[in-house]
Amino acid sequence: MDVGIKGFGAYAPEKVVENAYFETFLETSDEWISKMTGIKQRRWADEDEETSDLAYQASVRAIKDAGIEPTDIDMIIVATSTGDFPFPTVANILQDRLGIGKVASMDQLAACSGFMYAMINAKQFVQSGDYKNVLVVGADKLSKITDFTDRSTAILFGDGAGAVVIGEVSEGRGILSYELGSDGSGAEYLYLNPDNGKIFMNGREVFKFAVRIMGEASNNAVAKANLEPEDIDMFIPHQANIRIMESARERLGIPKEKMSVSVDKFGNTSAASIPLSIAQELENDRIKDDDVLVLVGFGGGLTWGAVTIRWGK
Ligand SMILES: CC(C)(COP(=O)(O)OP(=O)(O)OC[C@H]1O[C@@H](n2cnc3c(N)ncnc32)[C@H](O)[C@@H]1OP(=O)(O)O)[C@@H](O)C(=O)NCCC(=O)NCCS
Repeated sequence: MDVGIKGFGAYAPEKVVENAYFETFLETSDEWISKMTGIKQRRWADEDEETSDLAYQASVRAIKDAGIEPTDIDMIIVATSTGDFPFPTVANILQDRLGIGKVASMDQLAACSGFMYAMINAKQFVQSGDYKNVLVVGADKLSKITDFTDRSTAILFGDGAGAVVIGEVSEGRGILSYELGSDGSGAEYLYLNPDNGKIFMNGREVFKFAVRIMGEASNNAVAKANLEPEDIDMFIPHQANIRIMESARERLGIPKEKMSVSVDKFGNTSAASIPLSIAQELENDRIKDDDVLVLVGFGGGLTWGAVTIRWGK
């Protein structure tokens, strides 16, 4: 059975925050942020707009795009590091709000790699034959865990959500290969600090790790699918920093025009960043049926995940 994306949807909150905003309370500049990260804007949810609200909007779109009813969904997996509550999960909240049947629902925590982990998790449930339509959501409201006194992290993060319905697709399409991994020895470089409830990051160390792992994981996934770099139509890396993305692209040997860049508009939205980038490319008609995409994420844990997929239902 070929398993892939049957429906797709994404959502970014309305409020746009420009780099200039940070100049008003931090020693930084639009010029520094643009040059060092590629970020120009990010979206922030309102105070009362929770991660589940972002996830809900993206899910409604994905279910509609799949041409199915909420009651056809038989499992929900939400990748998030910023659930509304420690429990119940965002997936639990979505089940009720979307009018899905009383199916299994769970949150999955692999930080910025979460969407890759959740997609692959869903794939196994479908491939086993036990489930048909698994709703997978990547949603994060990082603005609520951002340390706005730390200029090296305050400027990086944004809020958003993306959702897919994972199920059986036409022969030859869908998820072709994947590579997931983690290295807990790097936990100290990126974590939620329990003292203030905010993100702590050693930017330099994360940068070095990311450059290496994005290239490695993508190359491994491409090799597992028996593909060559020239077979790749679109490279969609986690949108953390344009310099990290560029060096991963070079390691993969893919031309510039085949890399998706949305970090300028959304910043780093963690589990939502890859689907938000897919949404942008779909809108611009840059992804067509049967295109081969390489998706790759990395993040706290440290964790990583790369997926190759032949697009189309
Ligand atoms: C955060 C990041 C952009 C900083 O870039 P860098 O090249 O590593 O820079 P450093 O942290 O070494 O800092 C260089 C200088 O810039 C300064 N700086 C940091 N943030 C700044 C900001 N917003 N504005 C101006 N200067 C800043 C530092 O204080 C430092 O100054 P110093 O040399 O006087 O000490 C970069 O490390 C990064 O993107 N890391 C990976 C982040 C990431 O992807 N995280 C998400 C993982 S999912």
